[in-house]
Formats: sequence, C-alpha cells, structure tokens
Amino acid sequence: MNGVTGRMGLNQHLVRSIVAIRRQGGVTLPGGGTVVPDPILVGRSEAKLREIARAHGIERVSTDLDICLANPADAIYFDATLTSARVDHVRRAIAAGKHVYCEKPLAPTTAEALDLARAAERAKVKHGVVQDKLFLPGIRKLKQLVDDGFFGRILSVRGEFGYWVFEGDDQPAQRPSWNYRKEDGGGIILDMFAHWRYLLDHTFGAVTAVQCTGATHIHERVDERGQRYAATADDAAYATFLLEGDVIAQFNSSWTVRVYRDDLLQIQVDGTQGSAVAGLRTCNTQSRAATPRPVWNPDEPNPFDFYGQWEEVRDAAEPDNAFKAQWELFLRHVAADEPFVHDFYEGAKGVQLAELGLESWAERRWVGVPPLRNGEGVRG
Ligand SMILES: NC(=O)c1ccc[n+]([C@@H]2O[C@H](COP(=O)([O-])OP(=O)(O)OC[C@H]3O[C@@H](n4cnc5c(N)ncnc54)[C@H](O)[C@@H]3O)[C@@H](O)[C@H]2O)c1
Repeated sequence: MNGVTGRMGLNQHLVRSIVAIRRQGGVTLPGGGTVVPDPILVGRSEAKLREIARAHGIERVSTDLDICLANPADAIYFDATLTSARVDHVRRAIAAGKHVYCEKPLAPTTAEALDLARAAERAKVKHGVVQDKLFLPGIRKLKQLVDDGFFGRILSVRGEFGYWVFEGDDQPAQRPSWNYRKEDGGGIILDMFAHWRYLLDHTFGAVTAVQCTGATHIHERVDERGQRYAATADDAAYATFLLEGDVIAQFNSSWTVRVYRDDLLQIQVDGTQGSAVAGLRTCNTQSRAATPRPVWNPDEPNPFDFYGQWEEVRDAAEPDNAFKAQWELFLRHVAADEPFVHDFYEGAKGVQLAELGLESWAERRWVGVPPLRNGEGVRG
C-alpha cells in the first residue's frame, strides 16, 4: 500500500478499509474460504510509516517500492499517492506482475490512463480504480429508485458539490497544497470529473457531451510549510453534461463555496413521476402524487413547507464504508475471480471527461464524449 501517510490512503483505505477488513476476519469468498489482507506500508518516511503501522497492528513497512514489488508473496499493489506520481508507480507494479488497485484519477491524461489499461491487460493482471461514490448509501438509494422506475422519465440531474477550503493563512487548509497547483496534478476538474463520470454513467446513463466553465477564484494560497504559493489550478467548475436518454445533468464543483444545504454533495433528480434529493448517506423523495401546486406570489409570505413534503428513504441495512465495500469486491475479484467492473478502462473514462471538460472551458464550446475502449476517442 503506497501513499498511506496521505489523507485518503490513511483514513479511507488503510484504517476504514484494510484494517477494518482484517478486524472482521477478512473477506468471505464464494467457495467458503476467506481472504485476509496482510499489507506492507510503502512510502518515503520510515518513521511515519512505523508510527502508522504500530497504531494499526501492522508488521511490515518499507521505503523501497521496487524491493516490495519483487516479493511474489505480495499479490496486489495499491496506490493512493499524488495523481502526478501514479503512472510511474502503476507501470512498475504491472511490470512486476502485480494486480493493481488505485485511487482516481488513474492518470493525468487519457492517453496515459489507456496505456496503463492496455499494459495491465497485456500483463494479464487484474486492475481496478476507486469509484467510491457509487458505494455511498445516498447514491445507492438513488440507483435503487432509478432501477425501480420511481422517476418515470428522468429529465435532469443537479449536483452541488463543494465547501470552503481555507487558503492556509489564518488557519490551515483542509486539502493538500498540490491540489491547487496545475503543475503537480491539481485542479478540481481533474479531481471531481473523474467522480462525476462514473457516477453519471452507472446511475443515470452514459455521458455523451460536456460543457464546462472552470475558474481559479483564489489566486494565492499558503502551503503546509507556511509558504505562499501561486494557485495555478482551477478551484471551481460549472458544468453541464448530456447523458444518453436526453437527460441533462448540471454539476457545480467548488472549493470556494460555503455550504447551505444538507451535505457536501447533494444531488437532485427530477423525473416525470417523482424527484429525489440525495446526500452522502440520506435520500428524500417526492412522488408525483405528493407534488405541491405552488403559485408565484412574492407579495405574500411563502405558505408552503417545501422541505416537509419529502419522504426519507430508509436504510436497508447498516451502511458499510464506501471504500471498504469496493475493496471487498476487488479482493474477491483477485482471490476468486469474481467480476469487477471498476477497471482501468473505467478509470480512463473519468480522466477523459476531465480532459474534455478542460477543452470545453479553453475553447468555450460543447465537446462530445466519444467511446473509449481500444483507444478510440483519445485526442492529440
Ligand atoms: N476517492 C476520493 O474521494 C478521493 C478524495 C481525495 C483524493 N483522492 C485521490 O487520492 C490521491 C491522494 O490524495 P490525498 O488527498 O490523500 O493527497 P495527500 O497529499 O494527502 O497524500 C499523498 C500521498 O502521496 C505521498 N507522496 C507525495 N509525493 C510523492 C512522491 N513523489 N512519491 C511517492 N509518494 C508521494 C505522500 O507522502 C502521501 O502519502 C490523489 O490521487 C487524489 O486524487 C481521492
């Protein structure tokens, strides 16, 4: 596991996924056996790795990735390092014959992402990319409503993502500074469109076109060492996507917005027969029958309790951590050859949408999203 000293690597992948899976006794396999991950933590600072390992009952740490990759007993390479470092790490892991699971975005460009997908296929190793939002309770509930036909014909999807990320001067930023430097693989479009692609494709219909306006609203920030730096990457994006089935999806993504909604991500779906609003965990619906008949009248106080007219979708079971749920699928994929759809081609699609979003912004126009398999749809 590479990158476990970072935000995602430590909290979501190590503690909430791998340590939690070890604590529950592993992952059950279809044949009846179990697989228990035995991680080795890889990184640049041995002291930090030892401290994390000690805190979580893990034996093995290393600062030498190539020595780790040479150990045939370690079958999977996992990467949650910086986006800009991922391609090199993953390429080395594939060359060493490892199955690979990694964070999104898979690579900084579609061409590199596809190259990794083809290399993994040639090497006959299993490959996967984190698509955690699909496993969030709120999004699972939305998907269930879609599958049940609750919405009738889906008309539109509106996503509002974001929160205020402090600049780092009067108080520390909540995100690493590389996120705000284009030259280090930063930018909210590359970061978030990777999510929007799989979320839309798998929940509402394949994305066929994008129109995006990005912005760098805050031009200077302060890094982890207290140094001022130029924020060269986009910190907000205002995008519209067309989906198969004539669904229109609008997503605002911003690290420069203050939250006046129920969650950091809120998605509203409107259909002819009903609507739903989902957060990370919750989902509320309003059926056609329960839809109020408001009339526009600014001269009177609003007589409606609009929020009171929605009904909460109950949890089917105690929800598991989204990252852990996907890890379990990947472990079963590797150990028992169970299907796993979130492969490197899926990862490449996320990068493609980001790339086309950036193109749309630069050229101020709608851009079509061509199919990607076998290298189609890669530009320049
Ligand atoms: N799935 C999600 O919801 C989600 C959310 C945030 C970030 N991410 C992705 O996770 C990855 C890590 O993001 P983060 O916010 O945890 O970043 P971070 O800066 O907190 O962590 C980065 C990790 O990479 C290591 N690292 C940095 N430079 C390196 C180098 N040159 N060589 C090797 N290791 C290096 C750091 O030591 C650290 O362990 C990114 O690709 C990001 O896009 C995913």
